[in-house]
Amino acid sequence: MTDKLIIFDTTLRDGEQSPGASMTRDEKLRIARQLERLKVDVIEAGFAASSNGDFECVKAIAEVVKDSTVCSLARANDRDISRAAEALKPAASGRLHLFLATSPLHMEKKLRMTPDQVFEQAKLSVRFAKNLMGDIEFSPEDGYRSEPDFLCRVLEAVIKEGATTINVPDTVGYAIPELYGNFIKNLRERIPNSDKAVWSVHCHNDLGMAVANSLAGVKIGGARQVECTINGLGERAGNCSLEEVVMAVKTRKDYFGLELGIDTQHILAASRMVSQTTGFVVQPNKAVVGANAFAHASGIHQDGVLKARDTYEIMRAEDVGWSANKIVLGKLSGRNAFKQRLLELGVAMESEADINNAFAKFKELADRKSEIFDEDILALASDESASHDNEQYGFVSLSQHSETGERPQACVVFTVAGKEVKGESDGNGPVDASLKAIESHVKSGAEMVLYSVNAISGSTESQGEVTVRLQNSGRVVNGVGADPDIVVASAKAYLSALNKLQSKADRVAAQG
Ligand code: KIV
Ligand code: ZN
Repeated sequence: MTDKLIIFDTTLRDGEQSPGASMTRDEKLRIARQLERLKVDVIEAGFAASSNGDFECVKAIAEVVKDSTVCSLARANDRDISRAAEALKPAASGRLHLFLATSPLHMEKKLRMTPDQVFEQAKLSVRFAKNLMGDIEFSPEDGYRSEPDFLCRVLEAVIKEGATTINVPDTVGYAIPELYGNFIKNLRERIPNSDKAVWSVHCHNDLGMAVANSLAGVKIGGARQVECTINGLGERAGNCSLEEVVMAVKTRKDYFGLELGIDTQHILAASRMVSQTTGFVVQPNKAVVGANAFAHASGIHQDGVLKARDTYEIMRAEDVGWSANKIVLGKLSGRNAFKQRLLELGVAMESEADINNAFAKFKELADRKSEIFDEDILALASDESASHDNEQYGFVSLSQHSETGERPQACVVFTVAGKEVKGESDGNGPVDASLKAIESHVKSGAEMVLYSVNAISGSTESQGEVTVRLQNSGRVVNGVGADPDIVVASAKAYLSALNKLQSKADRVAAQG
């Protein structure tokens, strides 16, 4: 058994399935590049057959990513598999990930197939895929709730057909660490050709145990691949969190004894990028990437850390991308210092023009805010990389008036397909008035299902990062905006969500 643990990131596929977390092609490309920088072994780029948009995303990622294997999900049928293989053609290293449900409940209620039919389809689909690509992963969906005898029969057959990775999903997050670990161990012991495949774990977090279950699958079950997402992004309570599983295996190497290929210094930038792109805010006390993860607020702890850092710190903040020096740049900082800081934060800009634009925004921000923190730079970089010339709506300026006892008024100037327009409205508060001012012109009819404000670096001097979630005709999208003025940040977030609602995508869900 190898001592390398393969990290398979599915932020762009399973993570993106989370309502509201859908990403544009450019956003996915940017995250894929960051995942490559992080040196994840496999990037699941999407589900090519689910929509034309997903097909294009998988293809675009396959074209640019060279150091990680690029994977596409496919249902276990010839059409899906051919489509996925087609999208993966440009990949330096590609993988087809086939899935088919094997639990009694899913076979009977969802697939309406008998176990024998599922067995045949699993076998034939892997046979078909193997003719198109060497690297084949097979997932028995809802595997953890499947009958072990039937699962052994299916998995033995697909390995015989050439599946090189066997992934055992706990699709509904029902597992308990010891039981899940032993489940995998028993499968590996009972299946005669189990040593011909790498075993993989894929855990959902419904009971808050996705990371614990995945680690048990590794330690007890002998799995050598973990499927996970940045920030644990994913449907319902999410997936196993990449940063937690990676830092657990690295910090407790004494226990796991496994090697990882991950360059952990890029973890924080990846976390910020995913959070800002999707609008899924990272809770302050989130392990590894939360704002408080390395903050020692209590006097006793601070004293201990100053005397010897390992009194209270089991990991080094720098190792996951936090900088020791938090106030980083100011008004007088030059372009080189800015560029250097971007590099230290693991942010790669696509071109010198992008750096120039981001630097101009940095100067604007530094005029309004005396201290610029890493979080500000990450927000700025993310905003810069996410902005597109071809977006339908763009923020220009805003004015609003609010006074005790008076109904607030707002006037927002924004662009629609490059042309400036003005919307005016009153509202319950300045934010409400500003968003109604935009809506008075756009008339999207979208329902707001979430509005949240987060201070990027913790004080009232900080930039506010606003997330707006809109729902329209069954689609849910998130928009994010950052600015020292939270009313402006709100208007930017609203326009960003409207832009996403514009890009229509009909897609097939991977589950259900
Ligand atoms: O949770 C799950 O079962 C999945 C499969 C499609 C692998 O995401
Ligand atoms: Zn899943």
